[in-house]
Amino acid sequence: MPTIKRLHAIEILDSRGRPTVQATCELAEGISATASVPSGASRGAAEALELRDCDASRYRGLGCRKAVENIKTAIADTVCGVALDSQTQLDNMMLARDGTVNKSNLGANAILAVSIAFARAHAALLKRPLYQHFAAMATPGGTARQLPRMTINLFSGGKHAGGQVAIQDVLIIPAAATTIEEGLATTYAVYQAAAELGMKKYGARALTADEGGLAPPFPNAQTMLDDAVTAIENAGFKPGKDVVIAVDVASSHFYEDGKYHLDGAVLDGKGMVDRLASWVRQYPIVSVEDGLAEEDWAHWPLLREAIGSRVLVLGDDLLCTNVGRILKAIELKAANALLLKVNQIGSLSEALQAGQRAQGAGWSVTISARSGETEDDWLADLAVGWSGTQIKVGSIAHSERLAKYNRLLQIEAETKLPVAKWPG
Ligand code: PGA
Ligand code: ZN
Repeated sequence: MPTIKRLHAIEILDSRGRPTVQATCELAEGISATASVPSGASRGAAEALELRDCDASRYRGLGCRKAVENIKTAIADTVCGVALDSQTQLDNMMLARDGTVNKSNLGANAILAVSIAFARAHAALLKRPLYQHFAAMATPGGTARQLPRMTINLFSGGKHAGGQVAIQDVLIIPAAATTIEEGLATTYAVYQAAAELGMKKYGARALTADEGGLAPPFPNAQTMLDDAVTAIENAGFKPGKDVVIAVDVASSHFYEDGKYHLDGAVLDGKGMVDRLASWVRQYPIVSVEDGLAEEDWAHWPLLREAIGSRVLVLGDDLLCTNVGRILKAIELKAANALLLKVNQIGSLSEALQAGQRAQGAGWSVTISARSGETEDDWLADLAVGWSGTQIKVGSIAHSERLAKYNRLLQIEAETKLPVAKWPG
């Protein structure tokens, strides 16, 4: 039974140069491990609270010194010296000490950093790779069974690219690739073809957005999809066979007064469902994330009915990795897949519960990074250990993204596990 001897924390910077939290957990058994947490920009309203200093004179209020202090004082006081029999025990002690529904007291960033640093230290103590530790956390005695299929950002818009086009991501999935290694090579070819296409069509070299996606000035969402198909073809692949498409519509962010403001049109919920259904008919799309706004519960079941037999109806802002919201969505048949972001809920054990509820309902789970990431690579281990069918990390660009892909390559080389079959 591991015992935490000391907790340490510092403020570090994420991929946008904004502060985030890094925690180090030192066990009495002489092992210590460090982990850092990401931060979103296109956030769901129901997410746990990321504690910021709100001191406008420093990092425009985004400092994390309070969260760091909370780890070194309140959390350390609560958990140090206790013999811990599980991750859940540690997480529950922190939740009890926080005492709020959304972790606004200690901060989800503080709690999660400790939660993951402990998992990593515990894995090292047990002398097992982190992905195997996560697998055993999910199922006692369990081991990793598969590698996730990669959904890789190609084009960006919305909040990740200054809003030049409404929808947030067009992603590609190297569907014909049977390994991570081959999937990344395919993706590189398509990404380069897309960059060349962008240069030809839009002039200047396309800037990359927060997650490394290309962000030329698309005139509308449909052009993003057309360009993705062209880039796949230009790279020598067959769209719909070798490479398929996913979209993160992130529609909460262009939903106002009950209407979707998309490419000059003002659509009601039904109109938005029709628009998405027509995209699914026209393009080789296999997954639609946040096709509707997070509070538009009335139309989500319609969306699932319209496209759910053919594609993943994936809830991100809708679900916020929150068991209560997932149960509601299962009951209403509002979605058929969960986007799991650990920091939306703020502790490993709660995120695991959320993933297992979704899997228990027959849903598919995409394990996802945030747009503000660090070079830490625990997400790859988590996706493997928790049997995520998909992983969503961003583009094949920027070191904070590549750290996760490189870790997947390492895990693949080590385990030779198969990549998950595309559901359906
Ligand atoms: P975020 O967005 O990390 O900026 O919140 C990612 C997503 O919407 O999937
Ligand atoms: Zn999303």
